[in-house]
Amino acid sequence: MYGVINKSLRDMVVEQFGEAKWSEVLQRSGVPDDSFLAMQSYDDDITYSLAQACADEMEIDLSDALRAFGVHWVENTVAKQYETLMRAAGSDMLSFLGNLNNLHDRISSTFLNYRPPSFEIKKDAGEQVEILYLSERVGLTPFVEGLLHGLAARFNQEMAIIEIVPQPVARGEQTLFKLSMG
Ligand code: HEM
Repeated sequence: MYGVINKSLRDMVVEQFGEAKWSEVLQRSGVPDDSFLAMQSYDDDITYSLAQACADEMEIDLSDALRAFGVHWVENTVAKQYETLMRAAGSDMLSFLGNLNNLHDRISSTFLNYRPPSFEIKKDAGEQVEILYLSERVGLTPFVEGLLHGLAARFNQEMAIIEIVPQPVARGEQTLFKLSMG
């Protein structure tokens, strides 16, 4: 994945636990220390190894580390670096989610050959909303959980994830999120 993702993970650890902890994480991951140039694309294994090393270092599950990272991505990284894009994509959570594919599309000339996820709003029945997450990768559903919580906080939207339903697919990952949005 693009270095901007790896860098955001590093920033989260440094902000929450300090530089010394980050050195431990990096060492544990075995990832080279030049894997953090925002606009360079790196092997996905680098991102996965960093996330796993974070979890191991903090003695938490990988899914909890990914959830925390999702929140951090929305609340810190994109809020600081991509606020204009974020604003253009919507002023409430549901319209933002409806524009998210567009947002990722619009930056495909910057992030060449990148492989962003896509999202489909399957059902919008007032407070009950179903969103399908589609990815070429596997294992990032907890990251999306964190992203959704981060977005809910950003838009002051009351939201609970009621059910997370993995969909059977041959390749990549698809997950249906059933949300209640008060
Ligand atoms: C302006 C803000 C954003 C930018 C610049 C951005 C950019 C990116 C980039 C560069 C990647 C890495 C893909 C690759 O290297 O192949 C990525 C992945 C991803 N993005 Fe965004 N993104 C933004 C906002 C969001 C938001 C708000 C969400 C919330 C749902 C989101 C969901 C994801 C997910 C889940 C992935 C992981 C890739 C996967 O699932 O396969 N992004 N994004």
